[in-house]
This record gives sequence, C-alpha cells and structure tokens, in this order.
Amino acid sequence: MKAEEVKVTFQPSGRSVFVLPGTLLLEAAGRAGVVLQTPCGGRGTCGKCKVRIVAGSCVAAPAAERILPAEQVQAGYRLACQTYVEQERLVIDIPAESRFEAADQILTGHADRGMTLRPVITKRFFRLAAPTKLDAGSDAARLRAAVGAVEIPFALLRRLPGFLRSHDWQGTAVLAGNRLLGLEAGDTSAQAYGVAVDLGTTTVVGTLFSLATGEEKAVSSMMNPQVGFGDDVISRISRVRENDGALAELQQTAVKAINALIRRLGESAGVHARDMYEIVIAGNSTMQQLFCGLDPSALGEMPFVQVFDGALTLQAATLGLAVNPGAEVFVFPQIGGFVGGDTVAGMLAARLDHAGRPALLIDIGTNGEIVLAHDGRFQATSTAAGPAFEGARIVQGMRATAGAIEKVVLRDEVLLNVIGNTRPVGICGTALIDAVAELLRKGIIDETGRILSAADVPPGVPDPLLARLTEADGQTNFVLARAGESASGEPIYLWQKDVRELQLATGAIRAGVNILLRRVGLAPGDLGSVLLAGAFGNFIRRSNARRIGLLPQISGDRIHFIGNAASLGAKLALLSADERECADRLRRKTEHVDLSLDPEFQMEFGMAMMFPSEELDDLAREERVGARP
Ligand code: FES
Repeated sequence: MKAEEVKVTFQPSGRSVFVLPGTLLLEAAGRAGVVLQTPCGGRGTCGKCKVRIVAGSCVAAPAAERILPAEQVQAGYRLACQTYVEQERLVIDIPAESRFEAADQILTGHADRGMTLRPVITKRFFRLAAPTKLDAGSDAARLRAAVGAVEIPFALLRRLPGFLRSHDWQGTAVLAGNRLLGLEAGDTSAQAYGVAVDLGTTTVVGTLFSLATGEEKAVSSMMNPQVGFGDDVISRISRVRENDGALAELQQTAVKAINALIRRLGESAGVHARDMYEIVIAGNSTMQQLFCGLDPSALGEMPFVQVFDGALTLQAATLGLAVNPGAEVFVFPQIGGFVGGDTVAGMLAARLDHAGRPALLIDIGTNGEIVLAHDGRFQATSTAAGPAFEGARIVQGMRATAGAIEKVVLRDEVLLNVIGNTRPVGICGTALIDAVAELLRKGIIDETGRILSAADVPPGVPDPLLARLTEADGQTNFVLARAGESASGEPIYLWQKDVRELQLATGAIRAGVNILLRRVGLAPGDLGSVLLAGAFGNFIRRSNARRIGLLPQISGDRIHFIGNAASLGAKLALLSADERECADRLRRKTEHVDLSLDPEFQMEFGMAMMFPSEELDDLAREERVGARP
C-alpha cells in the first residue's frame, strides 16, 4: 500500500509541508523553510532543536527523555532532530529559542551580538507651538527642535509652511537617518514598513517587516521572470552584451517582479504600499546590477569586473517601485567578480565576523559561493558548479517540483521519496547526490565515478540492486524507478553521464574550498564549522554531500544548515543601521579570490573530481529514513 503524506504545520509562522511518515521533524521543518538551531549537528545531545507538539503525536526519542525534564516531555516537547513524523497530521510550535533567526549568532561559542532594532527609516510624531511675537523662529527651526537636527530637502522645505499651517502644527516626520523623507498628517508613526528582498537568479523572495516593531508581517516568493532571458547569469549577461535595449528590459522585468511581490505582501498583511518606505535588495552581482540598470557586460569576460562595491542607496520612485514616493532602496555591497550582495548578506547572517575558529560558508547553487573566515579576515570566491544541482544537464533531471525524486536510500532495495507523493517523473539535485553517495557506499560506483557492471561489483551487494544495473553503449546505468513505477511508464535511470556531471559540479566547489584553505595554510580538519546556506544547501543530506566530497570530511556536528542566509541578512540590514555598517566592514575585510586566475585551479579541480575513498560514519542515520519503496 502506498504511504500517504502527512501535513505538518509549524507555528508561529503557520508554514505547512507534506511529508511521508518516517521523516525527521528537523527535515520537515527545513522543507517548510523553518530553520532550527542544531549546534550538536542533530546528535540529540544539545537540546537546542526542542519543539512542542501542539496537535497530533510523535513518540519521544530516548535522547529527549534524557535531556528534557520529564514534565516537558509530558507536555509534548520533543527534539526535532530525533523525532519522526508518524501517521497523524501535526501542528508543531517552535519556541523562540529554538528558531534559527532568534539566535544571536550561528557559530557556536561566540555569543554576545544580537540585533537591536534601529532601522534607518523612522517616524516621529510632532506637535509644534505656533509662532508668536515672542517666538518667531523659522518653520524649519521649529520642526528641527521637535524631531532633531534633520536635513530638509528643498522639495519638502517648499511644502513645509503649507503643511504646518493646514495641519494645526502637527504631523509625522518620516526620516531616513537624519534626512527628512516626508511629512504626513496625523500620527502615523506606527505605520512604517519595509521589504527585504532576496533577488535570486531563479527565485525572488520578499519579506515585509514593520519598521516600528521589527515584526515579520508577510513572506512571498515567485520565480524571477528574468528566466525568460536565460536560466543563468551568463546567458542574461550575454543578452545584454548582444542586444541594445536588453539591459532596460531586464531591469524592468526585475522591477515588475518586485512590484508584484510588494502587492502580494501588502494584500496578505493588510498594509498599504504608501506605508512602505524602504526596500533592501540582496542578490548576486549580476542580479543587483541588472536591477539597478547597471551594465553587467564586464562580468561576461575575464577578468570579471563589477560596476560597484560599496552599498548603494537609490530612490524607489526613480527605479519604478510602487511604494511610498519618498521611499529608498538599499542595495547590498558587493565583494568582487561573481561574489555579490547575497554573499555579504549571508556573511552578515552567519555572523562570520564572530567566528572564533576557522569557518566556511558555502552557498551551493549553479554558482557556488564560498567564504572562509580565519583570524578576523575573509576570503571569498565563486565557482561555476553548473546546473547539475538544479537537475539541468542530468539526463532525466528536473527541478525540485512535483514528481521529482528528491531522496534515494539503498537498503536491499531502492527506497525513493517523490515530491507531491506521485509517481516519479525525474530526479532533482538532492536525489542525485543521495543516489551517488549510496552507490559509493555499496561499492557499485568506484572512486573514479564509474558505475560498475554487475560482474565487477564487489561481493555482498543484494541481488535486487544488482538487477538494476543495465548496460548501454558500453556504459552501465542504474535503474532508480522501474518502468511500471514511473509517471511516463519508462524507467528512470541514474546514467553514467549524470555521475560525470555531478563530479564536475562537486569538483568545482571542492577545488574552491581547497584553494581557500591552502591560501591560509589550513586543512579541512581545522574548520570549526561549515555553514550551508541557500535553498539547495538546506535540503541536502549532509552525510551524502560529505560522502561525495561536496563537503569537507569533518564531523557532522560541525556542519550546520543556516537557511536562506541572504534573506536573513537582508532583513538584518532593513531593521538595523548597525548591521549595514557591519555588512560594509565585512566587505572591506574580504579578499576576492578569482579562481579563473589561480594557476592551481585546474589541477585542484581534476583531483577534486575523484570521490573520497572513505567516509566518517557519524551522520549515517540522517538519510536512511523517510524514504519509501
Ligand atoms: S539535540 Fe537536536 S540538534 Fe542538538
């Protein structure tokens, strides 16, 4: 009988996800975009991933009974890293201290810096005394006495006398730092909102916040409609290089997408666009430049050069954003080449400046960005991993949408998870990593990446797995789903060339990591933490990523998921001027390492394409559950 997916809802965000019975709560939370604290790496020893079952039930793991007080276990508290979804629909409450975003910092052992709400945009209600014969100071001086020594742009100075006299000398001043942005009738000081935007190549995520309280009001995401101009940044840059007018077109497309998000956010939170005063943008260098209307052509040839490095502050109205006409846009600082504002935002969110031990931040995507923090300095690089992780160039690959095999476990038979609990259509990046890691463990794939024929496979491999090895054109492929099991009625294979594509993608990231480590004389074992950022990084099984060499060979308790770090960094910059200053400091302390200019890269890359011969076994449990035959 086919297992049915179970709905799991996470409070207080209300985000829901459907997963199969047997899935770890921690994994279900990750799929719902809810990131939990996991300082012990999911070993069940720190208790930081504690959650409470509000509706439904799950058996308490022995680790929870050891760590949590009996009355908490009784009250429904469980460790998300040790608890499995059962047959029943669940509502789970995530206490503030278990939420990743509530953490003062991510790197263990470096507490002391939380975020203080100090947005750049503030509102002040004022009530002025009308001029008298004894007090005939200017209107501007009168306003400054009430709201501080603000700079008043000429356009507002022209409005000021009429505004004060027609509103009985009271109103609300909208300020950007010490600059007056606008004057509003009445007391509107509670109505100040801003939007943090993670402007990705494929997806745009917007989060609406109250600037008065720091509260998250709504989140929305959509596909970046620029994909119509090409899936990756290189094709969009080429478009600009080859077509007059393409830059304006791409810019308008980005602006329209953000306007659509703003509309949706406003509708779902009941907030009027005229009360939105600031937009913060964090994107890769190509996305940020296209959004600003800055020509990214120089990123299309060596040496890869950006137009700007320090943060930009622009007028929302000039860009065509449908928010308050006085609103501003903060665009994140950039590091160099393809290392852009999303990486700086990720560094900010990961609190890399607080790393006591060497720390590595990796955002795995078509373009892998890697930052190494060591001794208060940072090195950052990007590496062209190609689209294998997104399922492209994989023979039966697809994005992680309904019908995609997203998880593969090998026991005596093949167990699969398919998104949407339907018959499989193809495989996505996480399943590709799983399949190769599992076949390496069984000895069916060797270190060079070759899928062995049934005759060459070492003894001990179960017959049902051997029966899945098929030969075609002198190569061996592995049947993941048989013809009768797939949506199309055709088998779904892991093809030999898929393994080669994965080796290229993995090798590029690993070579980047190795070169950064070597430049400062470190070995992988010296790393205190590896932080995985980005949508893809959140869904991979750490043990499998480590098995194929995508992650360094360090113990699992040092490998942490940090969620959508670019979004979180954008949020920090929206809510705190101090965080913006920190972002700028991080940028200035970061050296951009251009791998294309590194003489060792090609050799390093060639070596990194070999799979590691062994693995640490501390995370084995993580990926061997939650899949079905
Ligand atoms: S106890 Fe669950 S992550 Fe540490």
